[in-house]
Amino acid sequence: MDFSELAHRRYSVRSFEAEAIDPEKVRRIVEAAHAAPTAANRQPVRLYVLQSEEERAKVARGADAYGAPLVIVVCVDRAKAWRRPADGWSSAETDAAILTDHMMLQATAEGLGSVWICWFDPEAIRCGLDLPSGWEPVNILAIGRSAEPAADPLRHATQRIPLSELVAYGGIA
Ligand SMILES: Cc1cc2nc3c(=O)[nH]c(=O)nc-3n(C[C@H](O)[C@H](O)[C@H](O)COP(=O)(O)O)c2cc1C
Repeated sequence: MDFSELAHRRYSVRSFEAEAIDPEKVRRIVEAAHAAPTAANRQPVRLYVLQSEEERAKVARGADAYGAPLVIVVCVDRAKAWRRPADGWSSAETDAAILTDHMMLQATAEGLGSVWICWFDPEAIRCGLDLPSGWEPVNILAIGRSAEPAADPLRHATQRIPLSELVAYGGIA
């Protein structure tokens, strides 16, 4: 599968098979995050990989991970993130998003389904994982074998804004 096909075939999965994920696949997924770029290579990110029922229970009070057998909580330390001198903007969320996207696409390449989750209670996640001071959860990625029919890879023609609205070639909208 080339990249374009991979990007079009990925869809959000909200119903998973319970079976555990092959450790080699888990390794390749976190290695994809490891290869991701971050602003000024500051890498203000930490991944909490939760697999057993006991591990996943740590975040169950704060997030619905749809029963996925692999839950990765992407956390950032804002103090470590790069800040833009002009206005103090922090790269923390962007860095976390790039790692999350790399893992999501690697999961697709592994034949796994996933869903990116931001609807969670950060305090409950922080407590559940006993995060060190300064660290905050930004994204949760739920991964597993999809128990849903695959989404149509051509659906973006109707489920996304038109390409003409998305892209301003030559800077003219
Ligand atoms: C930043 C972000 C946050 C999201 N948060 C949630 C969430 O909390 N729960 C959920 O079920 N889906 C969540 N999603 C999935 C989106 O709803 C989904 O990607 C979007 O509807 C497009 O559908 P598709 O992924 O199947 O193409 C999130 C996606 C992104 C990128």
